[in-house]
Amino acid sequence: MGRDHTCSKLSRKPAWPRAAGAAVWVFALVACGGGAGGGNSGASDATAAATAASAASSPTPPASAASQPQPPSPPASSAALSAKASLGEQIFHDPSLSGSGRMSCATCHDPAFFHGPPNALAVQQGGRSSSEFGLRAVPSLRYLERVGAFTGTSSTAPGDYRGGLMADGRADDLAAQALLPWFNPREMDNGSRADLARKLRAAPYAAEFARVFLHASAAQVPDDATWVAQASQALQSFQLEDARMHPYDAKFDWVQQGRAQFTAAEARGLAVFNDPKRGNCAACHPSLSVDGRPPVFSTFGYAALGVPRNSKIPANADAQAYDLGLCQSPRSELKGRTDSCGFFRIPSLRNTAQRPVYFHNGQFTSLEMALRFYQLRDADAAFFYPSQDRQVQLYDDLPPALRGNVNRDAPFSARPLTNEVEQAELLCFLHTLTDGYRPGGPTAPGCS
Ligand code: HEC
Ligand code: HEC
Repeated sequence: MGRDHTCSKLSRKPAWPRAAGAAVWVFALVACGGGAGGGNSGASDATAAATAASAASSPTPPASAASQPQPPSPPASSAALSAKASLGEQIFHDPSLSGSGRMSCATCHDPAFFHGPPNALAVQQGGRSSSEFGLRAVPSLRYLERVGAFTGTSSTAPGDYRGGLMADGRADDLAAQALLPWFNPREMDNGSRADLARKLRAAPYAAEFARVFLHASAAQVPDDATWVAQASQALQSFQLEDARMHPYDAKFDWVQQGRAQFTAAEARGLAVFNDPKRGNCAACHPSLSVDGRPPVFSTFGYAALGVPRNSKIPANADAQAYDLGLCQSPRSELKGRTDSCGFFRIPSLRNTAQRPVYFHNGQFTSLEMALRFYQLRDADAAFFYPSQDRQVQLYDDLPPALRGNVNRDAPFSARPLTNEVEQAELLCFLHTLTDGYRPGGPTAPGCS
């Protein structure tokens, strides 16, 4: 058994005085005594620490102090938004647009937490009485501006599909996407378009909204569908325009521009990340600029990694219930395409060191464990998957007949392609992808 893998775990500590600059949380390696209890339980140990640290300090970058050097692309304030986008911002933060009256987009996609979840729960609770559990972990909304619409035909190989929002690409743009959480009974649960339109009409920004979007007074706006469609456009404008959602001001970007330098460990980590014979991460999370634009560390393609089943997702209590990803998408191109089951869209790795949960099912709660998974999924499968009759149930979050879909290219291998030092260096590199770097900022422990 590979319990040793849990014997160093990361504790989160906000290590930058808030007044001094941007939000960089430094991870410290701490020894962990005691047995992890086997199976996947080691992955959850960081939860309490993460939650406590989250509560203790909001990582919101403070207003830039005059003495600080300017970042390459300073995050714009909301003052820079167009009228449409700033209405979108109000909608994004408006809890009245929910069945419970208590949930806004920002509840799950919290700007203070890199537009991701504010806690380390695998899935969040929503619905009319805030008691329904979600089915997937909440992704960050940063760096989605280049995802693009879903592309591919009914004969495209699963790994060659591109784009689309959501882990299975089922929404083609941010406006279409907004309708999903609004009417999802596990999320904002607005019931019907009529219900949502009624709430929009009653919102404090209704008059402004009607003027900007409909060139009319609120009373003149005819049908419910128009209110809802225009509100979804407002959310799209906000997410595309708001530079705080895509600031490209991580240490990585400063280094690319020749304005900062990686430490030796960070540079070696990048080399591991790029090397097809070691990390091979860049095959799916490219680190090179595209069309002169900084990389987002995702091809926005799809892959099946076989992430272990997460027993903390209430829906998984039903042993027959599976989240099959791409093949469950309602798109006609994917009808009957069981070869695409288990594929999920490749996420951006920007701000990945700041996430409280990893992968579509939130199975891991530390970046170190996520990296261990790449290193040891096949080399030490018994650590990650349960056993039945002494047989390790590889890729147990897929029905047995579909487990062959799982990717077995590098870095997955029965013999780990990276060693302990390289794992630590990979971690150092991934820390350089956190937004809001300022020169002279702290380096993660062991990364100097
Ligand atoms: C209850 C929590 C919750 C709320 C509230 C919520 N979301 Fe989400 N959001 C999620 C989850 C979970 C996913 C991933 C769903 C999936 O992949 O199927 C997601 C995915 C997304 C995505 C796609 C991200 C990607 O990488 O493709 C966008 C965009 C998004 N949400 C925007 C919004 C907007 C806008 C609102 C408000 C109208 C909102 N969300 C409200 C939980 C939430
Ligand atoms: C074959 C393509 C592929 C390769 C190679 C790959 N990844 Fe991924 N990565 C993915 C996909 C797909 C996901 C999402 C899977 C899921 O949610 O089930 C992912 C998710 C992640 C996540 C979790 C992000 C989040 O927001 O939850 C991290 C961290 C990550 N990858 C880092 C790496 C590193 C480091 C390497 C190299 C050691 C690597 N990846 C190699 C495809 C790949």
